[in-house]
Amino acid sequence: MRNIKPVIIINFKTYPNSTGPNAVRLAKICEKVAFETGNDIRIAVSAPDIYPVSWVVSIPVYAEHTDPYPPGRHTGSVLPEAVKAAGATGTLLNHSEHRMPMKKIEESIRRASKLSLVTVVCAETPEEAEKIATMKPDFIAVEPPELIGGDVSVSTAEPEIIIRSVKLVKEKHGIRLLVGAGIRTKKDITKALELGADGVLIASVIDKAKDPEGTLKNLLT
Ligand code: G3P
Repeated sequence: MRNIKPVIIINFKTYPNSTGPNAVRLAKICEKVAFETGNDIRIAVSAPDIYPVSWVVSIPVYAEHTDPYPPGRHTGSVLPEAVKAAGATGTLLNHSEHRMPMKKIEESIRRASKLSLVTVVCAETPEEAEKIATMKPDFIAVEPPELIGGDVSVSTAEPEIIIRSVKLVKEKHGIRLLVGAGIRTKKDITKALELGADGVLIASVIDKAKDPEGTLKNLLT
């Protein structure tokens, strides 16, 4: 019997329905569903949306990316100090759509952790995930890139990836494991959890939904 709730991270990415004023609207829906269903729902939002979203919701708000640089001459960079000041309590790193070299991942984990930001580092394969596990992030999220945004989930198409990631990330290094890509149904989530994942990272099923509240409730209840 699980005694820890699965972690559900909704990545807002940069979809029209999940950025700008729509990020605030969707964040409120996520919060409502979190309260009504008792699920541990966290959201990752685009940097400009962190402040307005954090202002109106009390569920955890993460940045979609941070850079490892110190404050100073780094035009266009997203600093962990800045996202924290804007209200974020964590950050995604190395998402498949925003890949980072290993050295930068390591430095970013160090910088974010020093500021007590939760670090969720993405990996495309179990082997990459294992390398990152040695850097001790709070979570690793394994997402096969070819399934991202599609209609077939990692749980259905690549259960072996989940099983292998559980071994290499959770069992070997004691790092909490999330999986994602193509998650569309409650069955996809249940299967990922049954295979040993601690939660899921989801995006388009919610970000592009005509009825995000109904869709999210169907996914979780
Ligand atoms: O960060 C989550 C993501 O990459 C998965 O996207 O649209 O396949 O749920 P999606």
